[in-house]
Amino acid sequence: MKIIRSIPDMRSISFHCQQQKRSIGFVPTMGALHQGHASLMQRARKENDFVVVSIFVNPLQFGPKEDLKKYPRTWESDVQWLKHAQVDAVFIPGVHEMYPKGFATLVDVPALAQTLCGPSRPGHFCGVATVVAKLFNMVRPTRAYFGEKDYQQVCLINRMVEDLQMPVRVVACPTVREPDGLACSSRNRYLSAKDREEAVKLYQALYLGRELVERRIMTQSNRLVKRLRGVLTTIPGGRIDYISVVDPVTLESMQTIRRPALLAAALWIHKTRLIDNVIIS
Ligand code: PAJ
Repeated sequence: MKIIRSIPDMRSISFHCQQQKRSIGFVPTMGALHQGHASLMQRARKENDFVVVSIFVNPLQFGPKEDLKKYPRTWESDVQWLKHAQVDAVFIPGVHEMYPKGFATLVDVPALAQTLCGPSRPGHFCGVATVVAKLFNMVRPTRAYFGEKDYQQVCLINRMVEDLQMPVRVVACPTVREPDGLACSSRNRYLSAKDREEAVKLYQALYLGRELVERRIMTQSNRLVKRLRGVLTTIPGGRIDYISVVDPVTLESMQTIRRPALLAAALWIHKTRLIDNVIIS
């Protein structure tokens, strides 16, 4: 496995792949790898000749009060882990190379960035879209793999790729969960043992919500949200950021639940913010 630390090296590897007509599968990450990331890599491996994983903790997508400094950085173990994951190259650009002095261009998809996680994370999705556009320019992937756990993110990247006519296919992959249902996340490691036990209620609430709609017991999103709030308010140290029912393509909120719909929620447990979602089909 190649370890690529500079942008020119990444470009030249990508150029060689293209010359040899080898497809490139790309998995952008911020490291602290887990089974969710692994599932994207496996899918990329199956569908492409050459697989690139990037590890870059992107400062642009963290707000001033967010966890940029304490975000888990486990590069050495990540690289060891990737060696066993049949990845061809890991791209670890430096912050100053990514954002040199004078850097001033942003990519924004306001229509999709202002809902769900948007209001409590201003600037976050602009930071994500900007770094992903830059990474696409460096890696030049044939296909890029994103997890549905961050549904709003993949939805927004899809829009960006379509609107900017980028020559890459975005592949959305299902959420990988722990055996009890909690979605795998790099941030789960912040949870204390007690909070970790409580965290599963986020998925349980969404699962219940999906059942209530699919069995046609509830059709109005305000009633559904009220019911699910009841489940989540039992978590000690818990604070609900949002529970929303939205259109899965436009992310516009729905009062009467049509299908398909996306039921999404964000929840703080003490200082850890968790997100999850389910599709109601
Ligand atoms: P990160 O949180 O490291 O996630 C990298 C990719 O893994 C994302 O596409 C995310 O949706 C996916 N992922 C995370 N948990 C998952 C799970 N439980 N099941 C399936 N996929 C999962 O998302 C980012 O990094 C950044 O915003 C990034 C896109 C790299 C831009 O900086």
